[in-house]
Amino acid sequence: MTLSSNNSDDELATVTGELDKLRVRIRHHDYLYYVLDSPEITDSDYDRLYRRLEDLEKQYPDLITPDSPTQRVGGVPAEKFNQVRHSEPMLSLANIFSEQEFVDFDARSRKALGISDELSYVVEPKLDGVAIELVYNEGVLVSGSTRGDGVTGEDVTPNLRTIRTIPLRLVGVGAGLSVVEIRGEIFMTRSDFDALNQERDELGLPSFANPRNATAGSLRQLDPKITAGRGLKFLAHSVGRIDGGLPETHWDLLGYLEEMGIPVNKMHSKWCKGHKETLDHYRSLHDIRPRLPYEIDGAVVKVDSLEFQKQLGFKTRSPRWAVAFKFEPLQAVTRVIRIDIGVGRTGSLTPVAIMEPVQVGGVTVSRATLHNQDEIDRKDIRERDSVLIQRAGDVIPEVVRVLTEFRLPDSRPYRIPDHCPVCQSLAVRLEGQAVKRCQNISCPARLKETIKHFASRNALDIEGLGDKLISLLVDDGLVTSPADLYVLQLSDLMGLPRMAEKSASKLLGSIQRSRVVSADRFLYGLGIPLVGEFVARTLVEALGSVERVMEAEAEEMERIFGIGPEVATSVETFFQESRNRTMIAKLLKAVVIPSQTRDLRNFVEKPLQGKSFVFTGTLSLPRSEAKARVERMGGRVAGSVSSRTDYVVKGEDPGSKLDRASELGIRTISEDQFLELTE
Ligand code: IVH
Repeated sequence: MTLSSNNSDDELATVTGELDKLRVRIRHHDYLYYVLDSPEITDSDYDRLYRRLEDLEKQYPDLITPDSPTQRVGGVPAEKFNQVRHSEPMLSLANIFSEQEFVDFDARSRKALGISDELSYVVEPKLDGVAIELVYNEGVLVSGSTRGDGVTGEDVTPNLRTIRTIPLRLVGVGAGLSVVEIRGEIFMTRSDFDALNQERDELGLPSFANPRNATAGSLRQLDPKITAGRGLKFLAHSVGRIDGGLPETHWDLLGYLEEMGIPVNKMHSKWCKGHKETLDHYRSLHDIRPRLPYEIDGAVVKVDSLEFQKQLGFKTRSPRWAVAFKFEPLQAVTRVIRIDIGVGRTGSLTPVAIMEPVQVGGVTVSRATLHNQDEIDRKDIRERDSVLIQRAGDVIPEVVRVLTEFRLPDSRPYRIPDHCPVCQSLAVRLEGQAVKRCQNISCPARLKETIKHFASRNALDIEGLGDKLISLLVDDGLVTSPADLYVLQLSDLMGLPRMAEKSASKLLGSIQRSRVVSADRFLYGLGIPLVGEFVARTLVEALGSVERVMEAEAEEMERIFGIGPEVATSVETFFQESRNRTMIAKLLKAVVIPSQTRDLRNFVEKPLQGKSFVFTGTLSLPRSEAKARVERMGGRVAGSVSSRTDYVVKGEDPGSKLDRASELGIRTISEDQFLELTE
């Protein structure tokens, strides 16, 4: 279209019409992309629409509307935030910490309502973010504010407008309502949080302690451009004033909001009948907590019926119809008593913080690895410091940061010693390596770790050979290498402190039983750096025997699929060392490795041992064949998805099992991936 400077009414009407259409389409695709995570058009088609809108608005600046998708970031930074009074106070929730407290809450609510039937609840994740309120007038976002003290909050409208999951305009019935007040949580995913902190670290800026702090910091920026770059997300969980009628239940209210284009967290929420089902979903949320992309600190349980909610009413600061059912915190503050040095199998010196015991996420923690000197320097962790520690999911605890405000005046930076704490030999940090290593290959600490690994479950599996016993055997000089285990006599063991005949002969029995071992377990048990179970199995399958692996050159191993140059060099170097060769020659005389030409699968652990599969939808191969493939590899097939399911295999037209899987955070794979896995 050619445009003249004197735009005629006709022209303006045509342009306005096109602008409207473009905006509706872009909003629709934004919603599909950002909220539902299922775009219908390609990025370049989207870009074309967006650029067309930008171009038209540039030519007709008077036709720009505040709810246009181009206006997410606009205007000048604020000087300070204005105060906003919420039309209805934003309340908080009463906390409960145990299942019994929930059972009491359920009984109390039913009594107050005078009902003997079971109550229905909605159980939602309690997002650990920042509470906000959005106000829409005639479907257009006019104001967004923080919770503040519950009565008055701060006006952060320009910042909230930059958040892609917040609609600037409501759709459907929402567009026609005079006032809609939505409440919900602004949050940051763990991955966005990690990326932000890494970026800040590189720029020399202080990092944020957790995603909630990062969210609060990002929201309270005077310049909305900064907020825009932080990848904040929004999910609604409740409402303030809404003109027009409401549905009868909270669950339907969530659906009602969804229809207006407002994102709600239905995926991980559940409608539950009675307190038993409610507790079940609470436990499911607790179980999937480490696998959720965002942090939650509990579940929120709400009475589903809005009529019942009205009857139950409010206390001063919180409703009587809902509770926050909290999980154990995953962070805690404690004090480093001292820093110990552990010596690993390869002589690596690993600093470990020994801390005053503290409860974190339901377990007592008193140790945390500090990894290496660089990590200690980066966080400046010192003995006697107060520290914030955290357990992220199932991983070992880590020190997040030091609370320097509590540091003792005479504390000194910590340096890993230059000598091995066990054998006093020199410990050296070679170029390019992160850790210092004890240079004495017969260091007793290294030997103990070598034996421990050799005897472990997935290696030679010698039952009853625990840490204490290994220490005694090494310190007494009875064991100087794994091969010595096989010449131990009853009388040797009986000479050890607190060793009864019964346990001594039991141990000898398990040592004897470990003599017959598959080649891959044997190879893994040697504790070669970088050789885990998978690499050991790959090497044995490709080369056929331990002896062949011992003779192989790095170049030959590198040609094996799955073996990289570092692994190949590590294996070659290990077997070139004459002390290792002598020890292995002795060991090979003591053990029996069944010939590799016989079916290796009889001896190696089956790859899918213990794994549980569920199929949904139509697969191209018959179900019976799919089941046989799983079972051949040691797995099993179940009919329904539970928290114990490992994989859900998705065929054509998958059913509700797929929803259940995503609810529980269970891995779903395509049929092709399944075929590859069970090949
Ligand atoms: S409902 C009347 N649902 O938790 C209470 N709140 O102490 C309405 N929160 O700051 C709140 N997830 O922002 C509700 N699924 C959820 C929630 C949730 C997180 C926050 C809320 C408030 C605090 C309550």
